[in-house]
Amino acid sequence: MEECSDFFHQPELAHLRDLRLEESLRSLAVTGRYQQTFEELEIGARLAWRNHARCVGRKHWRMLKLIDARHATTADEIAEACWEHLRVATNGGALRSVITVGPLPLPDGREYKIISPQLIRYAGYRNPDGTVTGDPAHVSITEAVTRMGWRGDGTPFDVLPLVISTPHEHVRWYDVPSELVLEVEITHPDYPWFADLGLRWHAVPAVSNMTLSVGGLNYPLAPFSGWYVNTEVGARNFSDENRYNMLPTIAEHLDLDMRSERTLWRDRALVELNRAVIHSYRRAGVIMVDHHTVARQFMSHVKHEESSGRKCPTDWSWINPPMSAALTPTFHRYYDPPDMDVRPNFVSRRRSSDPACPITGR
Ligand code: ARG
Repeated sequence: MEECSDFFHQPELAHLRDLRLEESLRSLAVTGRYQQTFEELEIGARLAWRNHARCVGRKHWRMLKLIDARHATTADEIAEACWEHLRVATNGGALRSVITVGPLPLPDGREYKIISPQLIRYAGYRNPDGTVTGDPAHVSITEAVTRMGWRGDGTPFDVLPLVISTPHEHVRWYDVPSELVLEVEITHPDYPWFADLGLRWHAVPAVSNMTLSVGGLNYPLAPFSGWYVNTEVGARNFSDENRYNMLPTIAEHLDLDMRSERTLWRDRALVELNRAVIHSYRRAGVIMVDHHTVARQFMSHVKHEESSGRKCPTDWSWINPPMSAALTPTFHRYYDPPDMDVRPNFVSRRRSSDPACPITGR
């Protein structure tokens, strides 16, 4: 019951009466389960965000809004809840932090879950010559949904269908309604040719393959979303050699000398690409934070947590940006270790080191 007692000692829950604890403990003793209230679940999800060592955006944990979809038990109903999530989260570009929580696993352990890593992802098509059109990170899920009858247009930015698994149905896929997919076309403030690269990215990052662990219960279906840091898109999704790998193309357009690494052509292309990403989201009216600003926000968050007497487990390698890291204050210090396993939290689906849930035993 460690986790439960921690949970009820959070100041945010102090107004809940002891009765509630007794009630839950009685239900646990009799049925092996208990029902969390909307408020408990929403606060629990906020604390899970606050505790997540890999997130640099945690300063805003109090703003997280819950969509309670615990009643959604068919794939149709779950898809509907996900569309509502995208509607609320996108908000025409003024992005709102949202989590949608679905049903708990059945007593026999079978789960309701979203198989797609995010609500919005781009397909990757393996070509006969071995190259990939689209996002190489998603070749295997693209092949899987194609075997299930999905057909994409074959462009580099086809939105994948959402793949949902429930205990009582076959795995099913759903086309994401296009009016719910806000996207940003990438242009550059100074280089008109940049638009011709045809780059675009979606507004909302909505991670859908992590389990929300709260109050001793594990919810495998719990997509959550906030907003992007430019580097996620510009310094990873577009730049990684095993993703869209755009730096050589951009360097060519910039007429950089690519014959030697010593010219730092990669670094120069990377900066221009990230300028373009920030410029484009701003022009489109879609919230995005730059890596300098988010680092400052994180420092102020850590200081606040310290002065509140709380631990703030932090994964240095995740919260530092993948470019210009030493230019940000987050680079120059140590943090509480990331492996303290503080709950509530978001946990990866397959992590054998996760202790079994004390209630379901899984
Ligand atoms: N890095 C992931 C992506 O590029 C998104 C992870 C969540 N990020 C966020 N800002 N909430 O799609």
